[in-house]
Amino acid sequence: MKEWKQFLGPYKQAVAELKVKLKGLRSQYELENIHTPVEFVTGRLKPLASIYDKTLEKGIPFEPSEALAKELPDIAGVRLMCQFVDDIGKVVQTLRQRTDMRVIEERDYISNKKASGYRSYHMIIEYPVQTIHGEKTILAEIQIRTLAMNFWASIEHSLNYKYKGELPDEIRHRLERAAEAAFRLDEEMSLIRDEIHDAQKYFSAFKETPDRDYGEQKWKGE
Ligand code: GTP
Ligand code: MG
Repeated sequence: MKEWKQFLGPYKQAVAELKVKLKGLRSQYELENIHTPVEFVTGRLKPLASIYDKTLEKGIPFEPSEALAKELPDIAGVRLMCQFVDDIGKVVQTLRQRTDMRVIEERDYISNKKASGYRSYHMIIEYPVQTIHGEKTILAEIQIRTLAMNFWASIEHSLNYKYKGELPDEIRHRLERAAEAAFRLDEEMSLIRDEIHDAQKYFSAFKETPDRDYGEQKWKGE
C-alpha cells in the first residue's frame, strides 16, 4: 500500500499543478477582457479500484511499475470545459504550444464520435514533476469538451456505472437521442455565439466592484 502511495505521489502532484496552471488560462483571458475558451477545469487521480479494474481488463499485473504507467496514461487526468465547440480548437492550440508539457498523442472524438455517442478531444501529455529525487516525467490525460458534451458524458458514465456497462436497450436509445440533442445544442450555440459574446462583453463592463474603484481613487489622492 505504501508502495502505491509513493508511486502515485507524482501523479497527484501533477493533477494539482495542472489544475492551477489551466485555471490560470481562464484568469488571463478574463484580465484581457476577451472571451475565455475555458469555462472550468476539473482534475482527478485515478482511484486505485479503477486502476485495478483496468489491469484486469488489459491483463497486466496490478503492481506499481513503469509498465503499468505506460498502459494507463490517465492515472493523472484533467478536464477542460468550454462553452463553444470552436473554443476546443483554441485550447488544443494553446496546449500544443506550451513548453511545460509535451503532447504525445491526440484523439479527436469530436470529428469521430464514439459508437456510444461520446464526444471529446483527448490529449496525452508528458509532464515533468519535480520530486525530492529529481525530475520525474509522467503521462497525463487532458480531456477537452463543451459543457453539453460534458453533461452527456457524466450522465452516460453514471448510467453505465449503475448498470455495470450493460445498458438496457431503452436507455441506450434514449442516450443516443440525448447525444444528438447535445450535438444540436452545441451547433445552435455556435450559431448564436456572436450575440452571446456581445452580451458577455456588456455584462463584464459592470463586473468591476465599487470597492476596488474607491481603492484606486484613494491611492491616487494620497
Ligand atoms: P478507456 O476508455 O478508459 O478504456 O481508455 P481507452 O484507451 O479506450 O481510451 P479512450 O480515449 O477511449 O478513453 C479515455 C477516457 O475517455 C475514459 O477513461 C473516459 O473518461 C472517456 N470516455 C471514453 N469513451 C467514453 C464513453 O463512451 N462515455 C463516457 N462517459 N466517457 C468515455
Ligand atoms: Mg475506451
